[in-house]
Amino acid sequence: MTSHPAFRPRVLTGDRPTGPLHLGHYFGSLQNRVRLQAEGAELFVVIPDYQVLTDRDVAEQLQERVEGLILDYLAVGIDAEQAVIFTHSAVPALNQLLLPFLSLVSIAELQRNPTVKDEIAHSRQAQVSGLMLTYPVHQAADILFCKAHLVPVGQDQLPHLEATRTIARRFNARYAHGASPIFPEPEALLSAMPLLLGTDGGKMSKSRGNAIALGASEDETARLIRGAKTDPERRISFDPERRPEVSSLLSLVALCQGRDPHSVAEELGDGGASALKALVTEAVNEHLRPIRKRRAELAGDRGHLRAVLARGNTRANEIAEVTLAEVTAAMGMRY
Ligand code: TRP
Repeated sequence: MTSHPAFRPRVLTGDRPTGPLHLGHYFGSLQNRVRLQAEGAELFVVIPDYQVLTDRDVAEQLQERVEGLILDYLAVGIDAEQAVIFTHSAVPALNQLLLPFLSLVSIAELQRNPTVKDEIAHSRQAQVSGLMLTYPVHQAADILFCKAHLVPVGQDQLPHLEATRTIARRFNARYAHGASPIFPEPEALLSAMPLLLGTDGGKMSKSRGNAIALGASEDETARLIRGAKTDPERRISFDPERRPEVSSLLSLVALCQGRDPHSVAEELGDGGASALKALVTEAVNEHLRPIRKRRAELAGDRGHLRAVLARGNTRANEIAEVTLAEVTAAMGMRY
């Protein structure tokens, strides 16, 4: 990338403001964002505030949670001078893309999305809302409004990326008529991260109380890891199939220390879960120490956080308006 200074690939990704970012986000996506930005990519980060309403009636503490995400981004090294960090609700032209995009997918396709199915199963609502079923199309608008090339995400987001590619293809086929396509088909960028489980052995999730937040204190980190699910076998071994919880903890040490999980297991030998947990706590706290220090410093300047967001929202609006004008023109809405 650095050899073609004229071409800056656009990278877009985002995180719902439902709670603080955790180690899964960090190793799964945040590190990739920082690396791509350092390599010259133009980084866009959407904070999809409307999308919080997919599995609950009311989005709570939005202001605090949005500021918390911006803090996490800046603390891990996202460059606020260059990145466009914005919220859904502040970019009307982006949201309007949802209408033509919805016309390009069938109800059956929406109902087949495996990530949506899983979220419906874990939803805290008695009834599934229309937003739950349609948010992947909204996500396509997030990605396509800036014509992103690359989307660094976790495995669970792949169905949404596939939906986005389908929508881009169908829009181009239906409305670009041999002219150059309006939307590029974005690629997902998966990190090489092994599966990290939550401390309860389930999927690590901001809203399931089973994750170590980047901004958690060292004591809180120790307490969460002490309570993590393991198994009774004293000999520690890396075996994700048979021993998913122990293996996930070993992966965490390996990621923090840049090591191989088998060698971590060997070092622990017959030490059992308590030795493993002590090592995980030390590795995580040590790795996060500089990030947490920076986070605490930045937390003192809310004006700066708000300025970063205001700038991002302005830039996102400029881009979204250009794209929407192209879309409505292609659809014959020239009045
Ligand atoms: N659906 C994503 C999540 O739940 C958040 C998200 C919204 C997103 N829009 C996006 C991710 C666009 C990548 C690109 O984590």
